[in-house]
Amino acid sequence: MNSIAKWAREVARQHLEAPLPRRWSHTQGVARQARSLAPILGDDADLLEAAAWLHDVGYAPDLVVTGFHPLDGARYLRDVHQADEHLCRLVAHHSCAVIEARERGLADMLTAEFGDTPPDLIEALIYCDMTTSPDGEYLPVEERLAEILARYGDGHLVARAITESSPILITAVHRVQDQMLAVS
Ligand SMILES: [Fe+2]
Repeated sequence: MNSIAKWAREVARQHLEAPLPRRWSHTQGVARQARSLAPILGDDADLLEAAAWLHDVGYAPDLVVTGFHPLDGARYLRDVHQADEHLCRLVAHHSCAVIEARERGLADMLTAEFGDTPPDLIEALIYCDMTTSPDGEYLPVEERLAEILARYGDGHLVARAITESSPILITAVHRVQDQMLAVS
C-alpha cells in the first residue's frame, strides 16, 4: 500500500472502527474493490483507494456537523488535514451525493465548496461503493440499491435520492465492469 491510501486507511480506522464497526466493515470492502481496479486506473489508483477509505468518514459521530456525511467528511479532510483537493472532491461527490444534497437544501453549498471531479474516478468510486454491502461483502449493484431502499424505507429523503440516482449509478458500475473486462 502506498502513502496516500495508507494514511487514508488510518484516518478512517481512527474514526470508524470503534464507534461504527459495521460502517468500518463496509469501508474495508469498498477499499478492497478500489484496489481491484488498479489495472484500469494507472497513476490514479492510490487516490481512488484513499477516497474509498474516506468516503464515509463523515458518518463518524465526532465529525457530524450538518448530518450530510459527504459534506461533513470532505470539510473535515480539507480543514483539519489540508488533504489533497481531488481527494476532498471525490469524498464530497461520491455516489451522486449532489442529488441527496438537493433533497437536503445543501447542493449549492456542496458544489461551491467542492468542485468537479474527473468522471472516470467518480465512476470508479461509484463502482466500489455500489458493489459493497453494509457488511463489506460484494453485492451486484441492483441488489445494493434495493438494500439501501429497504433500509431507509419509502418516503425517506435518502430513498428518494437513491431512486433518482439509480440510473446513473447502474450505468457507472456497468461502465467500470466493461473497462475491467477489456483489460482482463
Ligand atoms: Fe459507502
